This record gives sequence, structure tokens and C-alpha cells, in this order.
Amino acid sequence: MFLYFSSYYDSEEAYFMSTLLHVSASPRGAASDSRTLAGAFLDTHRQAHPDVTVEELNLFDATMPAFGGFAAGAKMAAFGGGQPSAEQQGEWDAARAVFDRFSAAVSYFFSVPMWNAGVPYVLKQWIDIISQPGWLFSFTPDAGYSGLIHGKKAAVIYTSGISIFRGMTANGACARSSRRPGPRRRDPWGGR
Ligand SMILES: Cc1cc2nc3c(=O)[nH]c(=O)nc-3n(C[C@H](O)[C@H](O)[C@H](O)COP(=O)(O)O)c2cc1C
Repeated sequence: MFLYFSSYYDSEEAYFMSTLLHVSASPRGAASDSRTLAGAFLDTHRQAHPDVTVEELNLFDATMPAFGGFAAGAKMAAFGGGQPSAEQQGEWDAARAVFDRFSAAVSYFFSVPMWNAGVPYVLKQWIDIISQPGWLFSFTPDAGYSGLIHGKKAAVIYTSGISIFRGMTANGACARSSRRPGPRRRDPWGGR
């Protein structure tokens, strides 16, 4: 886990000018396993890269805007090359502010507990907010989807109550640089 950041910054310029955004997805505060691991990771990172600004985005701090009917309408308008209507503009602007905070960072560090074999709902909400045409990606019928975010890196720490990765102990935690959740479990979920 701690070696990952040794090659995190591609260039000196990226290192000296950068902000690392820590996206934390546990509501459990001081009791949080993922937060404890993140703290250890970030302490080491700060020692290795003292000029990198670390910002925390706590997804459970109740500031995440809703992505409701107006925002979804604006998204569909954007797909068609249109603009949000007057009534859609407010939710669209709120989503844009969340995206701007995301895109301002040069690198990302996620600390994520498993919730019901997935991620906490606020992380999905955040992903739904920032994933917009013309912001995160472009889309044309001919070319399909292409990403608009380049030259950034991310690392993630996952925690869970059970072992989902080979070699991981019960109630352990594990860091991966990309989401590869291992073999799919075939256990019944919630009965059958
Ligand atoms: C709402 C909720 C759902 C959970 N679902 C799962 C699960 O599906 N599988 C699992 O292994 N652990 C599950 N857990 C346990 C947590 O993933 C585990 O305790 C994790 O270390 C919590 O991280 P945190 O302390 O940073 O919040 C769940 C915990 C909560 C609170």
C-alpha cells in the first residue's frame, strides 16, 4: 500500500502543483476502519510529499446535492447537445460545483467500506453527480464514449467484514490500485 505513491507523480510539475483529494465514504468517524487506514496512508504520503495539498471530501457530511429530476433532465439535454432549462439550472449548477471540486485535484485517494456487497450509497451518488457528458466524458453516436479526464491517478483502500480477496483475513482490509473484486461469490444473499 505505501509503495504505491512512490511512483504516483509522473512529473516534478505535477508533484509541486498538485492537490490530492481524499474521498472518504464511511460515516463512522473515529470508529471507522477505512478512515484509520487512510490516516496512516496519508501520514506517510505527507512525509514523502510535503508540498502536495491533501483535501478531504467526506461524502457523509450532508453537503452532497441530490441528483433528481431536474439534474437528470439537464443531463439528457446535454447528451443531445442542448442546454438545461431554467428550472433545471439550479440542480445542474450544484452538480457542476461537485464536479469542479473533483476535477481540480490531480490525484485521488478513496477510502471505501463494503456495504451490502457494494459501496456506500453516497459514493454512488457522487459518481452519478460527476459523470456528465461534456464534463467527465464525451459522447457522439459515431465515436461512442471517450474520457475527458487525463493524466490523473487514483488509489483506493477497501475494508469489509469478510474476506473477499484471496489471502485477506476475516475483518481485514486491503488496498488495490484498481477495483478488481476477485471471484464472484455464489453465496445466497438475503435468502432464496
Ligand atoms: C451498512 C453496512 C453494510 C455492510 N455490508 C457488508 C458486506 O456486505 N460485506 C462485508 O464484508 N462487510 C459489510 N459490512 C462491514 C464493513 O464493510 C466493515 O466493517 C468495514 O470495515 C467498515 O468500514 P468502516 O469502519 O470504515 O466504516 C457492512 C457494514 C455496514 C455498516
